[in-house]
Amino acid sequence: MSSAPATSLQDIISHAKEYGFVFPSSEIYDGLQAVYDYGQNGVELKNSLKSAWWKAMTQLHDNIVGIDAAIFMHPLTWKASGHVDGFNDPMIDNKDSKKRYRADQLLEGKAEEYANAGRPEKASALLAEMGRLLGAENLDGVRELIIAEGIVCPVSKTANWTDVRQFNLMFSTQVGSVAEDASLIYLRPETAQGIFVNFLNVQKSGRMKVPFGIAQIGKAFRNEIVARQFTFRMREFEQMEMQFFVRPGSEMDWYESWKEQRLRFHKAIGLPAEKLQYHDHEKLAHYANAAVDIEFQFPFGFREIEGIHSRTDFDLKNHQELSKKKQQYFDPEVNQNYIPYVVETSVGADRLFLAVFCNAFTRESDGDKERVYLKFHPALAPVKAAVLPLVKKDGLAEKAQEIAKSLKSSFRTVYDDNAAIGKRYTRQDLIGTPFCIAVDYQTMEDDTVTIRHRDTTQQERVPVSQLKEKIGREVSLERILEAI
Ligand code: GAP
Repeated sequence: MSSAPATSLQDIISHAKEYGFVFPSSEIYDGLQAVYDYGQNGVELKNSLKSAWWKAMTQLHDNIVGIDAAIFMHPLTWKASGHVDGFNDPMIDNKDSKKRYRADQLLEGKAEEYANAGRPEKASALLAEMGRLLGAENLDGVRELIIAEGIVCPVSKTANWTDVRQFNLMFSTQVGSVAEDASLIYLRPETAQGIFVNFLNVQKSGRMKVPFGIAQIGKAFRNEIVARQFTFRMREFEQMEMQFFVRPGSEMDWYESWKEQRLRFHKAIGLPAEKLQYHDHEKLAHYANAAVDIEFQFPFGFREIEGIHSRTDFDLKNHQELSKKKQQYFDPEVNQNYIPYVVETSVGADRLFLAVFCNAFTRESDGDKERVYLKFHPALAPVKAAVLPLVKKDGLAEKAQEIAKSLKSSFRTVYDDNAAIGKRYTRQDLIGTPFCIAVDYQTMEDDTVTIRHRDTTQQERVPVSQLKEKIGREVSLERILEAI
């Protein structure tokens, strides 16, 4: 076996659609840009990822609990968090093509061109100048820089640019049935704020002692200007966030600790070390005193899958100010009241899904023959085991159904008797099923079956009575949790 050509994002998108993982949203109406639906296999994989994360947070740590806050929140939440005033991307339109771009991404693209052409110093100088102009809110300067760099619209090929404007990424809607009484509210752009506003509710009702964490999984919405690269940048997506409340002054130790723990999680779910890297933020967000991304090597390069931020007391302090409700904690160990500092871990479920999917996609060729399979960690695979009778007659189908039924309550098992057995193995390979159980004539004599292993295609003979334990251990999330 040798490796086939490098995988492109298009290979991933096509495979995900053809085998029931991800579909474009409302496709019969030609889809909705940057919105996707998970299919019958995708939802299983995504749920397993969410479950692994949830257990890694709330089951492995005595001092982390979960919540499920509403998507709609009081509008002042977003004033306090800085999103109303500061959650903007600089956008620019080309007057000829009418296409809209993110001004910073046009300049970053130019810098990448310089870097690829062996001029890294020119690339760094351009990025530094962009950072300076954006930091000073000098949007005219950003436009002039785009023009000075000779950047043209990829569609019209002209430099006929509008002014650069800040574009707020929050979606808004109205609550209230009477137009005059209706008020503007936002669809949350991050799940974190649902945690901050419940900090004292959880602390008091759970008698939590600092340091402690609150975890949440939920939808977030951003009106991304340029939404592309499949589920990497969506307008509706899911976040898995954990805010860890710590004593002021101890945040950098916790930041380092969470940085390491989160990398271990990504390795434990099967992402290889060489495809993961840290990327420290040079320009910190308004709320952070330290920030790092964990990046994964997608077919389009290393990109962020998770952010770890030391958010100081920024959020709780602002909520205290706007709500006029004290957000303090009395620490009996130091006999002091204070607003805790926060270390946040924030990973996108859809980005993690894409990373796991890209990593699992395997194409091997042997001469003219090509084999494609999804090499998921067995605990994440949508289907854990498939029971396949060699033929339908002579009681083999009934025996296989009986075996499938006996396994279903332990892990997701399917039964398939349609087509030649080779074809059925391929069908399971394409969705990443780690174990295929074949029922043959010998089964009828000695109650043994063969287990075919997805990655090696090797087969072993085992008694039916051992299947539940043997496969159950391999596909259990315990294996991931133990490796963190
Ligand atoms: N609470 C901090 C926060 O929201 P972020 O870096 O903006 O930080 C955290 O987002 C994570 O959410 C990212 O690392 C990414 O995995 C995911 N994410 C952000 N925007 C996304 C989008 N438009 N589509 C898919 N995932 C996104």
